[in-house]
Amino acid sequence: MDYRFDLPTKILAGPGCSAQLGVHVGATGAKRVLCVYDKGVEAAGIVDPIVANLEAAGIEVARFSGVQPDPPLEVVEECTATAAGMKPDAFVAVGGGSSIDTAKAVNANLMNPGKLKDHAIQLNGLKVFPFENRLKPLFALPTTAGTGSEVSQGAVVTDSELKLKLSVITPDMTPTMAVVDPSLMTGMPPNVTASTGLDAFAHAVEGMMSGLAILTPSPMRDSFALTAIELVINNLPTAIKDGKDIAARTNMAYAAFMAMLGSTSGYSMGHVMGHAIGEVSSIHNHGFICASVLPFNVEFLAEKIPTQLIKLARLLNVDTDGRTVEAIGSAVNSAMRDFYRACGLPSLKELGMATGDIKEIVSHSTKGTWYMLAPKKPTEEEMSGWLQAAYEGWD
Ligand SMILES: [Fe+2]
Repeated sequence: MDYRFDLPTKILAGPGCSAQLGVHVGATGAKRVLCVYDKGVEAAGIVDPIVANLEAAGIEVARFSGVQPDPPLEVVEECTATAAGMKPDAFVAVGGGSSIDTAKAVNANLMNPGKLKDHAIQLNGLKVFPFENRLKPLFALPTTAGTGSEVSQGAVVTDSELKLKLSVITPDMTPTMAVVDPSLMTGMPPNVTASTGLDAFAHAVEGMMSGLAILTPSPMRDSFALTAIELVINNLPTAIKDGKDIAARTNMAYAAFMAMLGSTSGYSMGHVMGHAIGEVSSIHNHGFICASVLPFNVEFLAEKIPTQLIKLARLLNVDTDGRTVEAIGSAVNSAMRDFYRACGLPSLKELGMATGDIKEIVSHSTKGTWYMLAPKKPTEEEMSGWLQAAYEGWD
């Protein structure tokens, strides 16, 4: 089967690189931009220098500070109204995945009113096609290291009426440039560092074991995923303990976008069940909940991913010599849980899931797109068991 890899986003990365933003936005010919962020990023003092940098380059800036976690479609509409009022030439998103995804969705919604849901893979059967009208340039400045939205072609938005997370995926939503400045991340609190870092870990691990990854093996994609996993294992505990450690922050910033490039094949049950937990139990902690069932999913898939499993095992210091693939799968499960403990991943109980939610979470999971494409589908009993184990914790 043919394999295609697109990397349309220009990546500018390194401590302090956001000082170059105005030059790059100006180079697109933009005179007016809409800067999209949330109140937390604004309160942390991150937004004002970025706006000042754009204004110093002669660019008029309007602001939208109303981003919310798991961006609700209502907020996308509200921000679109702001954009329609000022007609931006470009968008600048500052923040975590929610800010970047909001800006992507608003860009699409502004240029193609009413068409957003047509591109949601849950509603159109995984058809990926461009929007009719071309989108404006979008510059993404991540302030967390995990979602990888700064280089991805998707935006996840929440449809409150359908009680569904919609993954809107189309290549033209991919940011024009990712400005990855780790110095914007040093104030990130430990729990956000842990959660977003484990999101990157999940992207990379799942990217190597999704149904499409197995159908279209790619050493190029795996090289991004494996490097991202190594960077997370070696740097996340330090970044959690000492947020000012710029080397750890820089390595985690790299891990975040490399993990996303390593998961262009889609996901496995980590993100499928993570989204379902979020939908049913209303837990808005994407990274923690997507990481939660992943160790069990890796062990479950061991026979389907022997090569990737051995590489993952080595990164986790799991001895593979003379062991069966099943035994390695079990040992990797255990090593991943050890790593979770070192990163302070809370149990699903601590995160707010109730055991009474399990049945509905499993039901939502079986409707997930990546479940349909899974190389080996877990039964409802198996998924319930994973949720129950993650509910108890990592000991
Ligand atoms: Fe994620």
